[in-house]
Amino acid sequence: MPAISASAPGKVILFGEHAVVYERPAIAVPVSQVSVRVVVLPIPTGRPGQILVDAPDIGLHSELSQLPSDHPLVLLAATVQSELKLSHLPALSLWIKSTIPVAAGLGSGAAVSVAITRALSEFLGHPLPDERVCEVAFRIERKYHGTPSGIDNTVITYGQPIYYVKGRPFDRLSVRKPFIMVIADSGIKSETAAVVGDIRNHWQADPGRYETLFDAIAGITHQARDIIEDGSTKDLGPLMNENQHLLHALGVSCPELDRLVKTALDNGALGAKLAGAGRGGNMIALVEQTTANAIAQSLKSAGAVRTIITEVQTSSKVLAGNRPC
Ligand code: PMV
Repeated sequence: MPAISASAPGKVILFGEHAVVYERPAIAVPVSQVSVRVVVLPIPTGRPGQILVDAPDIGLHSELSQLPSDHPLVLLAATVQSELKLSHLPALSLWIKSTIPVAAGLGSGAAVSVAITRALSEFLGHPLPDERVCEVAFRIERKYHGTPSGIDNTVITYGQPIYYVKGRPFDRLSVRKPFIMVIADSGIKSETAAVVGDIRNHWQADPGRYETLFDAIAGITHQARDIIEDGSTKDLGPLMNENQHLLHALGVSCPELDRLVKTALDNGALGAKLAGAGRGGNMIALVEQTTANAIAQSLKSAGAVRTIITEVQTSSKVLAGNRPC
C-alpha cells in the first residue's frame, strides 16, 4: 500500500451564522491559506488494527487504542471502517498537520475529519466520494458540536463557496467577481457548542424575538447571494455591517470582536463582522486590494493575534485537493 496524503482547507462564514442552525440560509467560503494535511503510511511490521497517531500541533503521539473511547479520532477511524464495511484496519500511521487555529471559527474540526476520511479511505483502496466524506464529517460534528447546521463540513468537503440551508442540498455559489477579505483572530478561544447551546436557551425562552432576528439575518444572506452572483461585491460591505448588528443583538459578539470590527471600518474596510459562533474567534472585513495590507496591520495593532488576507475567487479558479504522496 503506498502512502496517501489528503488535505482540507479552513472556512469562514460570510453571512448567516447562528440563523443557519434554525433553517435559515448561510454563505460560507473555503480559506485555502490555512489547511489540514494528513498522511497515511503503512506499518509493514505492525499488527492488524495497530494505528499510530502523530499530531505534533496538539502534542499527540499515541496509539489509537490508548486514546479514550470517546476521542474524536477514535470515532472517526471507527466510522470510516464501518463505512467501508471492513472487519479491521491494517497497521498504519496517521500523521496530521494543521495550520487552522482551534476553536476560532475557521473549521478546524471539520477539516481534520474531511482530510482523514479522504486519506484513510483512499489508503484502504476505496476512496469515498465527496458526498460520503461530507456525511462522515457531519457525524463527527454532531457528536462533538451539539446541534451543528452542517455548513462547516459541507463547505470544507466541497472546497467552494456555498449557499447552505440545513437539511437541503446546498447550492454552489457562482462568484461573478473576486473579492478580498481580511480575517483577523481575536485570540479568544470560543467553543461553538457552548455558544450555540446558549442561543438555543434564549430562543426557547423568547422564540418571537429570536425568530425575528433570524429572519432579518436570512434577508441579508439572501441579498448577499444576489450580490455575489451579479458581481457588485462592494455592496456586500453594508450587508456585513447589518449582519454584525444583528449578531450583536443576538448576544454573540464581544468587546474584542467589536473593537476589531470598528478598527477595520475606521481604516477603510467596506464592511466587517464576526465570523462563526462568536464570543471570540475571528472577524472578517471586506477590503479593497489597495487597503488590504494596511487594514491587516491596523487589526494587529488593535490586538488581533493573526490576520489572513484571502481572495474569494471566481468559481472556475476554485480547486479541491486529494493526492497520493
Ligand atoms: O464557529 P464555527 O465556525 O464552527 O461556526 C459555527 C456556525 C454556527 O452557525 C454558529 C453553528 C452551525 O453549526 O452552523
